[in-house]
Amino acid sequence: MAFGPIMRMKVGDYLIELAPPTKESIQTIISPGLQQASVTKYLNNHFSPTIEDQIEWYEKTRTAKNQLVWGVWLVGKDNERTLIGSTALNDIEGEQIMQATSGSLIADKQYWNKGIASAIHKARTWYAFEQRGLTRIKSAVYYGNIASRRALEKTGYSLVYVERNVQFIDGQFRHMDNLECLNPAQESWRTWWRGERPQRLALEARQRTLESLDWARENVTLL
Ligand SMILES: CC(C)(COP(=O)(O)OP(=O)(O)OC[C@H]1O[C@@H](n2cnc3c(N)ncnc32)[C@H](O)[C@@H]1OP(=O)(O)O)[C@@H](O)C(=O)NCCC(=O)NCCS
Repeated sequence: MAFGPIMRMKVGDYLIELAPPTKESIQTIISPGLQQASVTKYLNNHFSPTIEDQIEWYEKTRTAKNQLVWGVWLVGKDNERTLIGSTALNDIEGEQIMQATSGSLIADKQYWNKGIASAIHKARTWYAFEQRGLTRIKSAVYYGNIASRRALEKTGYSLVYVERNVQFIDGQFRHMDNLECLNPAQESWRTWWRGERPQRLALEARQRTLESLDWARENVTLL
């Protein structure tokens, strides 16, 4: 584990590849990318990373035992590739019930609101559930990060609990939604709920997850 295997998908007119980043490509996501508060304000980051920080992150990630990270690459007509972001399954833990925490960012703002995060959430979720057998993926979103909340919800994440006043962003303290996405396959679902009756919101989320996995089976190529 460390960097995840290559997955490809079309998102509108874009060809998106999830694949390991390279040390050389990191520069393109920090400057201006991660050095802008408009990109990092919902990430719990209050510093501007430099190339040295990113190389340190790269080396730590490369050797991590409990993480799967992908670069988000835009593939051009002549197969040239530009790194525009990253997505990850962090803190992968557990044996019988394997869980992880997901995260994503698109550092280049010109690619926001094009459906890219929605697509990569579905691809990563499909990989986590159907290729790695995870039972549950957690995520957390600050109030105000509408695109992130929406993309996760569409994928099949649902609210577990709210933490109040976690972070000060743009003039006010923000609550944080803690979300989960459960593996909808019969066996995982039964293992998770152990005879309890899941609530309506969980059943609705399961349906959205099933639809996301169908989308991924149809649209994602795992090379
Ligand atoms: C959050 C982020 C990953 C979203 O990526 P994205 O590719 O722009 O998201 P999508 O285009 O898939 O949009 C997801 C949904 O949000 C909606 N949306 C996007 N931008 C929006 C905005 N500014 N206001 C309201 N809705 C918005 C989209 O319409 C879409 O909903 P729909 O499918 O019902 O139309 C991206 O903005 C980002 O990297 N931000 C900085 C880092 C970050 O906050 N990461 C997440 C931490 S939890």
